[in-house]
Amino acid sequence: MSVHKEVKRITTNTIQEMKQKCEKIAMLTSYDYSMATIVDEGGVDVILVGDSASNVMAGHETTLPITLDQMIYHAQSVVRAVKRALVVVDLPFGSYQGNSKEALNSAIRIMKESGAHAVKLEGGLEIRESIERIITAGIPVMGHLGLTPQSIYKFGTYTVRAKEEAEAEKLKQDIMVLQDAGCFSVVLEKIPAILAKEATDSIKIPTIGIGAGPHCDGQVLVINDMIGLTKGFKPRFLRQYLNLFDQINGAVQSYVQDVKRGDFPNEKEQY
Ligand code: KIV
Repeated sequence: MSVHKEVKRITTNTIQEMKQKCEKIAMLTSYDYSMATIVDEGGVDVILVGDSASNVMAGHETTLPITLDQMIYHAQSVVRAVKRALVVVDLPFGSYQGNSKEALNSAIRIMKESGAHAVKLEGGLEIRESIERIITAGIPVMGHLGLTPQSIYKFGTYTVRAKEEAEAEKLKQDIMVLQDAGCFSVVLEKIPAILAKEATDSIKIPTIGIGAGPHCDGQVLVINDMIGLTKGFKPRFLRQYLNLFDQINGAVQSYVQDVKRGDFPNEKEQY
């Protein structure tokens, strides 16, 4: 008999059943082994290897520069750590918009080289063919509507999307397109709470909100924002659970002081 406790893995089916049972879905991003270990053990249902890695890990202003190879590297590190959560990986900008064949090849690379469980793509009707092709190959797809950061130069700002009727209508049509195309779930980013509720109630697949109010079937935050590592980033939708920037900064200052005054290492910290 095995002494190891079996961990029941979260699958795309589990996520869909959670909506039926009105059980909220908790999702967070992770980009590396150490953080993914903590996040998985903390009990999140879905870990997103987001292209926000471009911002919080690499220091870019937007998500556009991160490459498919870099996303695969982050995904590999996360997958090695995760025992329970469903791991979803963003297809980066430029790896799927060109045509559906390219989209499929990019998704296959992510699945084959990282061992992740699903991919996420930004957009609605305009990428329907790509989504269908990826799903036909047996790869689960999470959609992403509302503020889609890969289109930041089209939007011009990171402010709330779909406040106007026309854009709200387009989002309501797009979410049906994503459901019909076979997506197992959809992220709704920075849209009015009332629109997120309408969209959530209109479909059978779960919605995961970020800045989209309380009516979504689940919530997602960027882990670095949620634990206060990203200094000065405090949008209204963000609940910051720790202030790690200040805590780590304090620890570094103490270490520098200890080294400078010859207090570290002491006699117990040597061989
Ligand atoms: O890249 C990311 O972290 C995301 C979330 C904000 C949903 O797409």
